[in-house]
Amino acid sequence: MAERLQKVMAQAGVASRRASEKMITEGQVTVNGQVIRELGTKVEPTDHIEVNGTPIDSKEKLVYFLLDKPRGVVTTNSDDKGRQTVMDIVDEPERVYPVGRLDYDTTGALLLTNDGDLANKLMHPKYRIDKVYVAKVKGIPTNEELEKLRHGVTVKTVQNGRHYTFNAAPAHAEILSTDKKKHTAIVKLTIHEGKYHQVKEMLKSVGHEVIKLTRERYGMLDLTGLTPGEYRPLRHEEVQALKSGRQFRKSAGRW
Ligand code: URA
Repeated sequence: MAERLQKVMAQAGVASRRASEKMITEGQVTVNGQVIRELGTKVEPTDHIEVNGTPIDSKEKLVYFLLDKPRGVVTTNSDDKGRQTVMDIVDEPERVYPVGRLDYDTTGALLLTNDGDLANKLMHPKYRIDKVYVAKVKGIPTNEELEKLRHGVTVKTVQNGRHYTFNAAPAHAEILSTDKKKHTAIVKLTIHEGKYHQVKEMLKSVGHEVIKLTRERYGMLDLTGLTPGEYRPLRHEEVQALKSGRQFRKSAGRW
């Protein structure tokens, strides 16, 4: 597919799109041996592009970011209601997309990448990546209710007027704290699946509505050093660990 020259340069990691445009108008860029100064120029994947005599590697650089998703942001490419998306926050030359989803009102660890192979692998339940959620719920779950979550619950729900039933696999479930006056509790739930509203539905199925939800950890990636709305690139060893399926356990303990 033909793409604008400055976009291809940015994706190849030459420079930002704006800086690439400047390089084009200054005559630093050739396409198939011809100097190109026009910004509208489109190039094909087979075209040979050089910047100051150095060929660019037009294969997009693979990038990986961990975002602390804030509340009130959608995890989709674009939103028909014009709401802010996670892609608006992660402002990078490469086009990254989120690995799985967090609800509009859920905060926490969200991985974004342009590495489709890794994204597919991580989203497969077979890969058993730990997703650690911390939920504030109405009421105080009993031991019996927690045991149900630990054995796996059947969720029956209605979404957009349609009835759904799914079995949620056994989860690690524990109470972190309780507020007897307000009659609320903070519950930690570790799951490997990513069904629609899974944590909210699991807790609802044992009688507890979620008031607030954060994903505290995704695999070995926790929120240390980030505040909601901030993101950081993954370190090389973190990418390697995700690829190999190794998971380091630690917790940022925001609650
Ligand atoms: N489970 C939910 O209910 N919501 C999320 O955003 C993630 C997991």
